[in-house]
Amino acid sequence: MDLKNLRLNYKKSSIDFKNLTDSPIEFFLTWFDEALKINKDEANACILSTVSAENKPTSRVVLLKIVNDKGFTFFTNYKSNKSIDIQNNPNVCLNFYWGELERQVRITGIAEQISPRASDEYFKNRPRESQMGAWLSNQSTSISLDYNFMDTLNKLESTFKGKDVERPLHWGGYCIIATKIEFWQGRPSRLHDRLLYEFDNNVWNKKRLAP
Ligand SMILES: Cc1cc2nc3c(=O)[nH]c(=O)nc-3n(C[C@H](O)[C@H](O)[C@H](O)COP(=O)(O)O)c2cc1C
Repeated sequence: MDLKNLRLNYKKSSIDFKNLTDSPIEFFLTWFDEALKINKDEANACILSTVSAENKPTSRVVLLKIVNDKGFTFFTNYKSNKSIDIQNNPNVCLNFYWGELERQVRITGIAEQISPRASDEYFKNRPRESQMGAWLSNQSTSISLDYNFMDTLNKLESTFKGKDVERPLHWGGYCIIATKIEFWQGRPSRLHDRLLYEFDNNVWNKKRLAP
């Protein structure tokens, strides 16, 4: 397979370095809104990277579900491999790639479990089958090749028959409190625009980075 000639000359947009918001969250929300207009179902898909106790990095896709001044929240199983990594080392990185906009956003920060109440709030708005799914799977554990989820699902259905599905305590959100957010906009001739916000002494400082 010849990959050498696969290349795109990026030219859709640019970063206006003269008109930057003080807060990178505000900047993120503007870009996120544009991404949602193009891909309303999966603009919130992003790559979360964690590092294990053995210093080995792993990346996987998660869905961003809440953005606010505090940070960027996704939901998962607190016993999964990513959660084990985070318990050992809360330094994580989140990466959004919105190809149609020729944009990347890279968020570096510390992941913290959100409060049980905040997880409950999100959980109760999930569709019932997703709520069941949180009970159904011991995410990241090994299961037999012929494992059949239907038996467990049937048991769960009778447990919760006529009742709301409770949130399992091992399922909830992590909020990533950002210390660095970098915005990348593809530009012609590989002269891309890169804008870095760094949180220091309670303020966000802005820097332009070479492509
Ligand atoms: C589009 C997409 C969205 C996903 N969203 C989530 C998510 O929000 N939370 C989650 O725990 N896993 C999500 N996953 C599954 C993860 O990528 C991963 O397989 C799983 O969380 C186990 O990861 P771990 O073993 O590193 O903990 C998603 C996968 C894809 C492809």
